[in-house]
Amino acid sequence: MTDHTFTDPERAAVYRAIAERRDMRHFCGGTVAPQLLARLLEAAHHAPSVGLMQPWRFLRITDKALRAQIQAQVEEERIRTAEALGERSDDFMKLKVEGISDCAEVLVAALMDDRDKHIFGRRTLPEMDMASLSCAIQNLWLAARAEGLGMGWVSLFDPQALADLLKMPTGSKPLAILCLGPVKEFYPAPMLVMEGWAQPRGLQELVYENTWGVIA
Ligand SMILES: Cc1cc2nc3c(=O)[nH]c(=O)nc-3n(C[C@H](O)[C@H](O)[C@H](O)COP(=O)(O)O)c2cc1C
Repeated sequence: MTDHTFTDPERAAVYRAIAERRDMRHFCGGTVAPQLLARLLEAAHHAPSVGLMQPWRFLRITDKALRAQIQAQVEEERIRTAEALGERSDDFMKLKVEGISDCAEVLVAALMDDRDKHIFGRRTLPEMDMASLSCAIQNLWLAARAEGLGMGWVSLFDPQALADLLKMPTGSKPLAILCLGPVKEFYPAPMLVMEGWAQPRGLQELVYENTWGVIA
């Protein structure tokens, strides 16, 4: 404990949001109140970013026809992914990988254009722009969980096709289609685990001391 430590209930709430955040693909329609959506986007905007470049841009999709076109792009990529998976293709096709048609809000999270001039922290690691946007998305995800809303990150799409559809400038890049909104219940564990698709590894296998692979 330090003088700066949160109170016990505050700390518990932070850890609870982290533990109970789930990638959601089942939504029950409804709406997200404008003030709540604004709070969530503000949480995203509080994220750290390399050199304070704030590379995030969020496109709120309110046009129903556009939402359907986005879903069609995801469906195309879902089929291509299944083909690429070979023997796991049938199992993959049984998974629900997005909730675009039944979520309250669809947001496209994108990297801004004209990023090359931002060199601080990116000279050797240009992908730190993507890391920064990911921090913003995680903030949004955790805040949404605390507000009782589910969110799902969909990355099954062709970025150029989506950029063209949304009339994004050259050099920008969509990184995530975010499905957001009320859910009937939160999955008690990652859905891919519940569906038997993947098994998570324990933290103790992933923390090394001094040398790669050396577990303390
Ligand atoms: C960068 C990123 C991209 C993802 N893309 C997809 C996706 O396209 N479709 C999907 O169903 N889940 C996607 N997920 C969700 C992961 O499958 C999920 O986070 C993981 O299985 C762990 O589950 P949890 O988030 O509920 O803990 C993505 C997650 C991340 C972080």
